[in-house]
Amino acid sequence: MKQLALLAALALTVSAGLFAADHEYKKIATVHDIMEAIVKPNMDLLAEMKKSGGPSDEKQWKQANRAASIIGEGAELMLLDGRIKDQAWEDGAKMAIDGAQKSMTAAMRKDTNAWMESLNGIGGGCRTCHKVHKPKK
Ligand code: HEC
Repeated sequence: MKQLALLAALALTVSAGLFAADHEYKKIATVHDIMEAIVKPNMDLLAEMKKSGGPSDEKQWKQANRAASIIGEGAELMLLDGRIKDQAWEDGAKMAIDGAQKSMTAAMRKDTNAWMESLNGIGGGCRTCHKVHKPKK
């Protein structure tokens, strides 16, 4: 009986794995909306924390970690399903992802210096892509 249950569990795990592997990403949101709704509010939050000298308590470090993770995820979206337009696009998005991951590590360690530095990395990613692709007002 026990073995049967184990087999069933194993079969479930394997098929779940197959289903997950089957999914093909399809872009839904416009780049404009990714910027406005995903990237910007989280970057604004990080910039605000930076202005006040960095996250100052457990709650703020958690918020900082989350904001960076969402920015990184947003930058990942910029690389999927034909969104990449050229090298500057790809480089910028990857730089933002790298900066976001460093920012998450710094937030987990509550390392203010590394955290400040990571924001330059993220910002460099934004600028690298925007220099070429963001329409001037
Ligand atoms: C891979 C390219 C790329 C990266 C990386 C990127 N952006 Fe953008 N961003 C764009 C493009 C393209 C637009 C113009 C979108 C539009 O309006 O069509 C834009 C527009 C914006 C806008 C104006 C919103 C709008 O469209 O009116 C803001 C704010 C913005 N980006 C913030 C950021 C921040 C902050 C980062 C870094 C964390 C970032 N972006 C990283 C490509 C990028």
